[in-house]
Amino acid sequence: MDAGATAEGGGHADLILGIESSCDETAAALLDRDGRVVASVVRSQIDLHRSFGGVVPEIAGRSHVEHMLPVVEETFARAGRKPSDLAAIAVTVQPGLIGSLLVGVSTAKAMALALGVPLVPVDHVAAHVHSCFHGVAEPEFPSACLVASGGHSTLFEVVSPTKHVKRGETIDDAAGEAFDKVAAILGLGYPGGPIVDRMAQAGDARRFKFPRSLMAKESLDFSFSGIKTAVLYHCRGQDGRGKRTLDEQEVRDVCAAFQEAVVDVLIEKLSRLAARIGARSIAVGGGVAANRRLRERAGQLAQERGVALRLAPRELTTDNAVMVAGLGRLLFAEGVRAGLDLDAHARAVAPAPSHSP
Ligand code: KG4
Ligand code: ZN
Repeated sequence: MDAGATAEGGGHADLILGIESSCDETAAALLDRDGRVVASVVRSQIDLHRSFGGVVPEIAGRSHVEHMLPVVEETFARAGRKPSDLAAIAVTVQPGLIGSLLVGVSTAKAMALALGVPLVPVDHVAAHVHSCFHGVAEPEFPSACLVASGGHSTLFEVVSPTKHVKRGETIDDAAGEAFDKVAAILGLGYPGGPIVDRMAQAGDARRFKFPRSLMAKESLDFSFSGIKTAVLYHCRGQDGRGKRTLDEQEVRDVCAAFQEAVVDVLIEKLSRLAARIGARSIAVGGGVAANRRLRERAGQLAQERGVALRLAPRELTTDNAVMVAGLGRLLFAEGVRAGLDLDAHARAVAPAPSHSP
């Protein structure tokens, strides 16, 4: 236990509070001793960032300051419980926007000090991994798990509920970032993932062929900047500046072809990892895990391999605090604690519990 750790909560205190503020969602959740969700509140900032076409760190940080305490209060109000019922506070400490992370970490520390309950540090990407298994009584490990979001595209060998070993990651753009950028190129709005997903449903994925960056045969890393550039050239010519107008069907077909290329790469790497580790399940979490085609193809992969499928429930794909409280609860049971000197980190630093670099 770190120096300055807070005292253990006693009595009938049975709730775990999760706090999430790593990017553009201010979120809090309360779980009971068995991991059941008692209340969960997510306040998205999407409307604040939309006109900028992406998350503006300064605006995100300020909005977290404004909304964090009301979100925490609303979570307790919905649960009909009080802060004195807390057994522990789990908070996202890394990776993410530093100004945003600090709001959650400061709130968690202030509450821990005032209430005398322990603090549990949680890695955001590890929390996305957890979201795939939340509420599953006996998860099938080892699991080949993909976390694909706006900030991350990472493959994990999940050895146990709290031991996730990183096996691959993107060397440039994250998958969700590629969806967002392609939507911007096509003038479809922000965030692009859900819009491209919807447009692709009425599109013909075979009409255009965008590159699949699979890299070396044994590589488990990703690269999405080439696909994004190919879409840019397709729409605006080789200098990326042309102003060709695409009719609506072509926009749908580009969305479908782009999505198919991204999903092909994600599934190929997930399949390689599953084979390599003898996975007993295939898991997918993170914002991009909401994508219909990715969910479908992950299901096919699990079926082909004869293993279980663990897709994060849709409400836990994008950022939320249930996944933070959920992983925090398991780490708490293992004795993981942080002191009041707990700090936030924009990039993941070791040793982060449940996150082996
Ligand atoms: O997990 P998340 O809320 O935030 C990060 O940790 O980054 O993920 C947000 C990302 C955005 O890039 C968004 O466009 C993408 O997830 N996304 C999707 C879909 N829904 C959200 N991408 C593809 N298809 C979707 N249906
Ligand atoms: Zn996330």
